[in-house]
Amino acid sequence: MCGIVGYIGHRDAYPIIIKGLQRLEYRGYDSAGIVLFDGESMQLSKTKGKVEDLKNKSEATISTSGKLGLGHTRWATHGVPNDVNSHPHYSNSGDLVIIHNGIIENYESIKKALIKRGYSFESDTDTEVLINLIEEVKKKEGVKLGKAVQLALNQVVGAYAIAVFDKNKPDEIVVAKLGSPLAIGIGENEYFIASDASPFIEFTNNAVYLEDKEMAIIRIGKEIKLRKIEDDAIAYPNILELQLNLEEIEKGGYDHFMLKEIYEQPRAILDTYRGRLLADQGLIRMAGIDQNLEKFMNANRIIIVACGTSWHAGLVAEYIFEDLARIPVEVEYASEFRYRNPVITDNDVLIAISQSGETADTLAAIKMAKEKGAFVFGVCNVVGSSIARETHAGAYTHAGPEIGVASTKAFTTQITVLTMIALKLAKAKGSLSESKFHEFLTELEGIPEKVENALQTNEAIREVALSYKDSTNCLYLGRGYNFPVALEGALKLKEISYIHAEGYPAAEMKHGPIALIDEEMPVVVIATRKGHYEKVVSNVQEIKSRSGRIIAVVTEGDTTVKKIADHVIEVPETSEPLSPLLTTIPLQLLSYHIALMRGCNVDQPRNLAKSVTVE
Ligand code: F6R
Repeated sequence: MCGIVGYIGHRDAYPIIIKGLQRLEYRGYDSAGIVLFDGESMQLSKTKGKVEDLKNKSEATISTSGKLGLGHTRWATHGVPNDVNSHPHYSNSGDLVIIHNGIIENYESIKKALIKRGYSFESDTDTEVLINLIEEVKKKEGVKLGKAVQLALNQVVGAYAIAVFDKNKPDEIVVAKLGSPLAIGIGENEYFIASDASPFIEFTNNAVYLEDKEMAIIRIGKEIKLRKIEDDAIAYPNILELQLNLEEIEKGGYDHFMLKEIYEQPRAILDTYRGRLLADQGLIRMAGIDQNLEKFMNANRIIIVACGTSWHAGLVAEYIFEDLARIPVEVEYASEFRYRNPVITDNDVLIAISQSGETADTLAAIKMAKEKGAFVFGVCNVVGSSIARETHAGAYTHAGPEIGVASTKAFTTQITVLTMIALKLAKAKGSLSESKFHEFLTELEGIPEKVENALQTNEAIREVALSYKDSTNCLYLGRGYNFPVALEGALKLKEISYIHAEGYPAAEMKHGPIALIDEEMPVVVIATRKGHYEKVVSNVQEIKSRSGRIIAVVTEGDTTVKKIADHVIEVPETSEPLSPLLTTIPLQLLSYHIALMRGCNVDQPRNLAKSVTVE
């Protein structure tokens, strides 16, 4: 849940590392640090705050030359965010340096033992313990750095992606991985190290992704040497050619990544179904489902595990799978599921949904379900991510990199994939008539254009945001397919604007939350024509009679809700199961504008990180 970057080669490391850290800031941004080695001395700069703060501090206080460097952007786990706890960390001798993404769970006992043997610590971090353990092993065993790293890692419990170097051996960086991602970019007589490929994509398309329990010795002028941490077995680097391009990871004229990603949704949804949804042939092609159709057809039930926004996409999928394919579905928070000793049989299919493909709880839930015999299918955005590799089969969302911390296009593309799966299964099971199936295909094919129309509400939403930017609370209501959208709308608002918001099924209001309604309480209601419309209209009336202020998302041309609500936002008409793809758009825009008007950092909300690789 931190970002790491490293460089060794013939260029100046400093600009590569700073830019790389900026691209990885989505992973953590409470403090940052850099170390550079110019062949003679090491220059270290660390600070609480953003990479921009690190840049300012470094340029004012250190020499930024050096062809070897490591950088880190942190999301604090052990020790508060401050200069001292920021990475990189030196060993006691000052010879070894480390950057680390992950958690060393048994660091306290190791730290105590090291203190007894004369080691001292400046920071509260688990990482400083690890680098001193490496140093101790290196000295005691009289081994080279690579071997010392390996022996030390065999003593630790936890998760890590680390990069280490020894100032006495400045042509070499040692890296290792367990549970946190680590990519090595391979250039001409130069190597890049990063948590994902974005820091080095303009320099090389060739990369190796380390597998769990692998380490690599990266030496200038030599090929990468890979080995297993546990038993020293040689591993062979699988060099991939990356498809990522620079444009995809830059803001492209938008003020924020979040806004760019909201606006990318028509294209992203199209990319999700491109080559899979063949409406004219009445076909959906998805290799991961086609090759495992029997598993789905014979499934007792589908269990969906995910966290946050991906969990909300799972809730939408529950409605679709049960409604169209008539398969029982349970949706679970991965963090609860993994510790609950759930009853799982080999006739269960587990679908794990994750944008990043790195979420620790989802990954652990997958491992547990696999051990208990379930067939596990992944819906991920990041190609080659840990979850994509850990699952038996899967379908990528192809949304392109999502950099804004608040998920937007990940949500709609996850729903698109899950809808296609539900439709395929419905067809295979005969639970949907041929004509209905064709209708859905055509409707889904037209969704990008309708999302485009829904985006036209931007100006109207900005006006609404002006009226509510100073609210302290907000309720979101929806029913049926749009209940998860209400939850998602509330999550978007709270995470980026810090306004307390709750999502509820509209009919649950009268069982408690209605007590909160007064003239100060904005209530966002999703009241589209298809989907318990009359019931939702009654719920809206109940709020109005208690002086609540209503912002309603309605179907184009609606006249009934318009008469009751304070503001209406219109979205195009579509079938009920596909409506979340449209109703979620104005809610994303609303939270964006409110957060902006409140002066919040939209792309990097406080306390959050994009990729939650800790429990
Ligand atoms: C909210 C958000 C988070 C993520 C959650 C799961 O906007 O982004 O709630 O949805 O951390 O992340 P992934 O999908 O990467 O597993």
